[in-house]
Amino acid sequence: MESKKGRITCSLAFAVSIATIGSLQFGYNTGVINAPEKIIKSFYNETYERRYSKFISDGLLTSLWSLSVAIFSVGGMVGSLSVGYVANRFGRRNSMLLVNVTALLGGAFMALSKLAWSPEMLIIGRFIIGVFSGFCTGLVPMYIGELAPTRLRGALGTLNQLGIVVGILIAQIFGLRFILGSEQLWPLLLGITCLLSIIQCALLPFCPESPRYLLIIKGKTEEAEEILKRLRGTHDVVSDINEMKEEGERMAQEKPVSFVELFRSRQYRQPIIISIVLQLSQQLSGINAVFYYSTSIFEEARIPQPVYATIGVGIINTVFTVVSLFLVERAGRRTLHLIGLGGMAVCAVIMTIALKLGEQILGWNYVSIVAIFGFVALFEVGPGPIPWFIVAELFSQGPRPAAMAVSGCSNWTANFLVGMLFPYAAIGCGPYVFLIFVVLLIIFFIFTFFKVPETRGRTFEEIAKDFQSSKDDSKAKRDSVELTGVKVPQSGPE
Ligand SMILES: *[C@@H]1O[C@H](CO)[C@@H](O)[C@H](O)[C@H]1NC(C)=O
Repeated sequence: MESKKGRITCSLAFAVSIATIGSLQFGYNTGVINAPEKIIKSFYNETYERRYSKFISDGLLTSLWSLSVAIFSVGGMVGSLSVGYVANRFGRRNSMLLVNVTALLGGAFMALSKLAWSPEMLIIGRFIIGVFSGFCTGLVPMYIGELAPTRLRGALGTLNQLGIVVGILIAQIFGLRFILGSEQLWPLLLGITCLLSIIQCALLPFCPESPRYLLIIKGKTEEAEEILKRLRGTHDVVSDINEMKEEGERMAQEKPVSFVELFRSRQYRQPIIISIVLQLSQQLSGINAVFYYSTSIFEEARIPQPVYATIGVGIINTVFTVVSLFLVERAGRRTLHLIGLGGMAVCAVIMTIALKLGEQILGWNYVSIVAIFGFVALFEVGPGPIPWFIVAELFSQGPRPAAMAVSGCSNWTANFLVGMLFPYAAIGCGPYVFLIFVVLLIIFFIFTFFKVPETRGRTFEEIAKDFQSSKDDSKAKRDSVELTGVKVPQSGPE
């Protein structure tokens, strides 16, 4: 009955592509500080010398650099916590336009820091661009999800994920010494984010506002209808409109849940703990130690041309993101997460052994590259995509926004900790540093095995029911679901 409305029209393709620039930005700014680490560090050193007529100490330089890398996540947290408010106040499209101010500002601060001999400006710029990235992680999936016809929602939603990994890859390629990763050009490398932002700002006005926002939040049915007609390429948008109206009614019935209620209410406690731990498992798996610091890890392993190994990481990352798009449709979330976590732990052990042996025997260095590739590939199979799926599937309309915000917050916090502490850990533990992540990965594996239910193929209402009355007889059933991960029999097809 809705078959012919699952078309990709020009209008839809255009709006989705322009929105995806936001995902590209997030990825780009995640990956961009990896390759030029050494060069920017010597800029910090030089600045220090000009100001105080002595060289910077190793300790201070490490602190300043970790801060420059990690403060991005503090900004990310601020942005992701403000998304809900901004998106409802100004609309989805206009919010995307508006937040580009932060991209321009952050990009300008970073690009001009060298000219002004000011590492402070770079650090402030990293914070602001983090705020922008936090906004993007919320706004882009929201906008795409609300524009796409139901049948294409999943497929188009994955473009966000793809935009992020391609952004990381572009940053790694541009970071090559003979492109933009040189002493003279690194400010441009960091400033390119402004260019992307200008392109997006120039084209966003030609994109429609989300019809779902216009109809449900603003009550502008006619405007929503007009836009839907263009997006769907047909005049018959009655079923879309009805679907949205139904959703609006459901939302009106289910009041939004506050943060406090989320933790107080017994019904939400277990799902929220699962959501938080899964987010932590994504970040504390050590993936960003690779995305932020892989060039220096490879250099430490005495690999000639470490930047190319870093680009290899970006390519593997992109390829396996595509692979996982297919896997997620076929295998269960819980299974993929377990495979990912377990596999990453094995790769990290192999990498540690290879790094240690590589100190004496050169061939082992290349084994460590392969192990890092495996580590990244397995991340994209499980801990990369799965935590977000599961959070969205564990909560119904009412508690979902609060649950998403809490999850986002834990994700960025863990991201910050890894970015900030990894360089110290690397100094302290030498080649054994990834064993820290092995321990964490094993803990998360055990938690997932015993506590995380399978969510694929079940409506979130069905899943939510598992957690609801924790005192009555459904407890036994729920426990058995948790322990075995077997689909409960009464859950029919969606
Ligand atoms: C700072 O630069 C000087 C001169 O190039 C160098 O000798 C020193 O090792 C550098 N300090 C650090 C911490 O890298």
